Amino acid sequence: MSTQTPSSNPAATSQIDHLLDETRRFAPTAEFADNAVATAELYEEATADREAFWADQARALHWHKPFTEVLDWSNPPFARWFADGELNVAYNCLDRHVEAGDGDRVALLWEGEPGDERRVTYAELTDEVKRLANVLEGLGVGEGDRVAIYMPMIPEAVAAMLAVVRIGAIHSVVFGGFSADSLRARIDDAGAKLVITADGGYRKGKVSPLKPAVDLALGDRGSGVQETVEHVLVVKRGGNEVEWTEGRDLWWHDVVPQASGEHEAQPFPAENPLFILYTSGTTGKPKGILHTSGGYLTQSAFTNRVVHDIHPETDVYWCTADIGWVTGHTYVTYGPLANGATQVLYEGTPDAPHPGRWWEIVQKYGVTILYTAPTAIRSFMKLGRAIPKKFDLSSLRLLGSVGEPINPEAWMWYRKIIGGKTAPIVDTWWQTETGSIMISALPGVTETKPGSAQVPLPGIAIDVVDEDGTHVGNGNGGLLVVTEPWPSMLRGIWGDPERFVETYWEKFQKQGYYFAGDGARLDDDGDVWLLGRVDDVMNVSGHRLSTTEIESALVGNEAVAEAAVVGASDETTGQAVVAFVIIKQSYLDEHPVEGLGQTLRQWVGEQIGPIARPRDIYIVGELPKTRSGKIMRRLLRDVAEGREVGDTTTLADTAVMSVISAQIK
Ligand code: WTA
Repeated sequence: MSTQTPSSNPAATSQIDHLLDETRRFAPTAEFADNAVATAELYEEATADREAFWADQARALHWHKPFTEVLDWSNPPFARWFADGELNVAYNCLDRHVEAGDGDRVALLWEGEPGDERRVTYAELTDEVKRLANVLEGLGVGEGDRVAIYMPMIPEAVAAMLAVVRIGAIHSVVFGGFSADSLRARIDDAGAKLVITADGGYRKGKVSPLKPAVDLALGDRGSGVQETVEHVLVVKRGGNEVEWTEGRDLWWHDVVPQASGEHEAQPFPAENPLFILYTSGTTGKPKGILHTSGGYLTQSAFTNRVVHDIHPETDVYWCTADIGWVTGHTYVTYGPLANGATQVLYEGTPDAPHPGRWWEIVQKYGVTILYTAPTAIRSFMKLGRAIPKKFDLSSLRLLGSVGEPINPEAWMWYRKIIGGKTAPIVDTWWQTETGSIMISALPGVTETKPGSAQVPLPGIAIDVVDEDGTHVGNGNGGLLVVTEPWPSMLRGIWGDPERFVETYWEKFQKQGYYFAGDGARLDDDGDVWLLGRVDDVMNVSGHRLSTTEIESALVGNEAVAEAAVVGASDETTGQAVVAFVIIKQSYLDEHPVEGLGQTLRQWVGEQIGPIARPRDIYIVGELPKTRSGKIMRRLLRDVAEGREVGDTTTLADTAVMSVISAQIK
């Protein structure tokens, strides 16, 4: 794996310059602190006995069979948490609230993009999940089977996840914006037996089709028809026309309401797999990150409670993430529902049908807690404060940020314009792999600092180290590591235990540290500032994309001989995909070069999904390579960001960069 010290990453350097003069601090109001779920004692308790602390958090869940063991770390890096305990994750998110008398509490305040709405109570959601669980069992889906979910943000998507895990099966949610090919690769890798989808969902004012992509994915994509999927269960949402494969396809409305509403949740061992979620790594093949049940739910529910300060009786919580990403898993489905919270679920995009849509939703439902991504905040900032100012946002009492570093300017704007200068902001660092939040201020306890994710949560042990694994000390930059196992940690990569060890554990094998792949810096107070990825993973609008994956999509096009992709800093999206491609001479002999950039952008969109479409494509004659043939992306990033090109002395051909710079002007 290629690594780069954070100081050689230009984005990181400018971030360091910023934070050196960042001295602002914001203490919580007395009112917030007095009512906060989190307390300073949590740190003391966790320090006194880390495992006992996590055991206490786990006991906040319902265990059909209580655990007696906490952590088994006898075979690192394969951790087992609460391994002899048994629970049902869906029971924890649904039935137990109904049994406690909270069945009439609204679980989902759903808002469709066209403005339609549905309020789903805990009793109703439980009923739907029980019926669906019966349907799934009727289709022969059982413990350990994989189910792919490819859905818009509708209540059925949440119900689908919960019904799958209720019967001990494993879901693999694939973001609805991914292409048929990406979906196929994920279905194949997991060997899914069932796909749950919708005809389509609303995005940007029109229906975006989903079922047609499933049909394509299951057809012959070059290696024959898909063989493991037996049925496709389809929710009618978009009303768009769909083709139907008799015997394979089923309408949700034909089978779910008719199914029995009786379904008793069976207990499963705490280490039973819960879900697989594919994420980009440094190679072309996405990794199926595997999470299990008891530890994941423990830390998800705990962090949602203390970091988002959930008061389930009074709060209206809104996490804007799609369920296709880990944030949607942990902070839409599992954390908030385990805590019995009431949350907004919004189907569409922030600007449909008008740019104030989100703020209209905050006003309409009286949202008290908003959890979103810096890229969204920056695009609102660009549009100007006049838009949010038209709405009453006074209900908001806590704001959260996730997915990428939030620059101090965006942080201050978020605080002032959205948070009315009082709502604390929690900048939460975590990953698909960590399962839930690892580093964040505790609202009501921590004084917040614009731009810093700040401190590890109680019970979490992290460090910033140099290449040798030595602590860098305050005031210095290095690599972020997690030094002790944590309950919601990934348990592996689906079907590839070697890659799991190699990717996360080999670099600091001696110390036994988990290598996160992020650069970080400790300030003079010891607070953590995240500096972006140190590997070939890009972060575009808070979504992880692999440079290699986009490169292989590009070279898959008949015109392309070679491709190099870099993440260039972008004012709105954090990073943007910039591609440098060499076109085959044979292609150029027969075709004009005009319009090729656009064609290739589109091609990548079709191969991976629209989010992976390069912002810029530069057609060049050569790429900068070291003598060993490795592409020097650092130099291409200089060009893409319009900077003076850095040190070229290790290039095989030192003139190549001036040729490239001249070509793209
Ligand atoms: C980045 C998203 C800075 C980081 C939950 C990490 C962040 C990657 C933050 C994981 C933050 C996430 N500050 N960077 N608060 N949160 N990141 O797997 O580079 O989609 O490694 O999980 O996002 O992205 P993932």
